Amino acid sequence: MRVLGIETSCDETGVAIYDSEAGLLGDALYSQIAVHAEYGGVVPELASRDHVRKLLPLVKEVLQQANMTGSELDAVAYTAGPGLIGALMVGASTGRAMALAWDIPAIGVHHMEGHLLAPMLEEHPPAFPFVALLVSGGHTQLVQVDGIGEYTLLGESLDDAAGEAFDKAAKMIGLHYPGGPEVARLAEQGDHSRFRFPRPMTDRPGLDFSFSGLKTFTLNTSNDLKVDGELSDKDRCDIAAAFEDAVVDTLAIKCRRALQQTGFKQLIIAGGVSANQRLRDRLEEMVKKERASLFYARPRFCTDNGAMIAYAGCQRLMAGQSSDLSIQCQPRWPMDSLEPIAKG
Ligand code: KG4
Ligand code: ZN
Repeated sequence: MRVLGIETSCDETGVAIYDSEAGLLGDALYSQIAVHAEYGGVVPELASRDHVRKLLPLVKEVLQQANMTGSELDAVAYTAGPGLIGALMVGASTGRAMALAWDIPAIGVHHMEGHLLAPMLEEHPPAFPFVALLVSGGHTQLVQVDGIGEYTLLGESLDDAAGEAFDKAAKMIGLHYPGGPEVARLAEQGDHSRFRFPRPMTDRPGLDFSFSGLKTFTLNTSNDLKVDGELSDKDRCDIAAAFEDAVVDTLAIKCRRALQQTGFKQLIIAGGVSANQRLRDRLEEMVKKERASLFYARPRFCTDNGAMIAYAGCQRLMAGQSSDLSIQCQPRWPMDSLEPIAKG
């Protein structure tokens, strides 16, 4: 089955074609970072308008990459939520219309399920069941995954998501949006022993997270160091290093607990923050001690992309699921409300 995947939930327009036999046949991505950078964050209306501009050219591009025409596709998958409603509607209505024109089914995909399944696109995918750490700009969740659509939430952030905390910390030390990769870049040059930032909620049992206190700690540290309202380059790097260490350590402690609690021996990490090299290294160390294995997608498929939507859609379509003609998007959509796919 060949599925066209469309991702437009936030600030990336992603399109891909996934073939259940041959794997990825085409994959194209347009990032709106330049559109939003001057505002320091995503402006929803500008995001929707840019998706309108970029979506069809990207569809043409992936069809060319795959050397096929739309009528040779078997289905269209689009992100139906969670995300920015206007942005979601662009992908959903365009995807639904193309499916109608080509007389093929369409399916609305849950964005976080897309992220969660992205490691399946790699050469050595995990096998169910496993523990998943989802760390994106909008979500931080630990999930027990028994199969596609069989998700039990083990813990989540009570306030900011990990990616959001990276973005806000970046802003505090004068870095551009999106801050995660910038903080990681500066942290590489930082002195990791100069500051020790708190590891929130690790001193009590449970698998929930909270990053807002860490954010305040970062703000206070940076204000204390400012001279004439400015931080030195060294201070910036040292704060980035301390912040990154605190987030990475906190995530690793909770992942270890989740493995111990479930007894599972496989951990997957997904979402934008799973591209973070220090997080990957720290978790590799941890899983080794737990005699478990770590799985993640290539960096391009950690952040938003069309391939993960094409893949997730394909799995559900192959199990006989599809969406009707109405175009329904859900800006908020709990992942544990998803239907399991029937096991063959
Ligand atoms: O999954 P994603 O592309 O979009 C959402 O679904 O939210 O995640 C974006 C988030 C942003 O907050 C970004 O700063 C963060 O992922 N991010 C990173 C890195 N790359 C992206 N955070 C830390 N280190 C990175 N290398
Ligand atoms: Zn995402």
